[in-house]
Amino acid sequence: MKKVLFILGPNLNMVGIRDKAVYGTETAESINEQVKKWADELNIDLEIFQSNHEGDIIDKIHSAYGNKDGIMINAGALTHYSYALHDAIEAVHIPTVETHMSNVYAREEFRHKSVISAVCAGTIAGFGTNSYYLGLLALKNLMK
Ligand code: DQA
Repeated sequence: MKKVLFILGPNLNMVGIRDKAVYGTETAESINEQVKKWADELNIDLEIFQSNHEGDIIDKIHSAYGNKDGIMINAGALTHYSYALHDAIEAVHIPTVETHMSNVYAREEFRHKSVISAVCAGTIAGFGTNSYYLGLLALKNLMK
């Protein structure tokens, strides 16, 4: 069974409370449950990690080296400015899919740029919770 690390960055624990018009009303806990079910259906061994701290996320990515077959990441706002996150993803050589719940291109200009895209296999954005389903599906194929 392939092992995937699903990383959620800053403020994604607040989904369901924050900006409901953008992220919906489903809580982070309930989204995690749904993503775990999808992973089971796809026969993926999934670990979910959420942190509001850049360094902790970087440590977690490093710990995936040699231990995980794929990474799915919603880096939150770190997406737009964390070169350290870019370097961490690049360092571990693990197929990584970037995901966003919202269509970042239809929002503020600062969200149009991702500094991690170049080291990810691809990006899925704009499908709400389904972005995570599509991300797992993409990873499933990448890990074959
Ligand atoms: C987000 C989009 C980011 O711009 C934002 O900072 C987030 C969530 C998304 O899932 O749509 O925290 O990554």
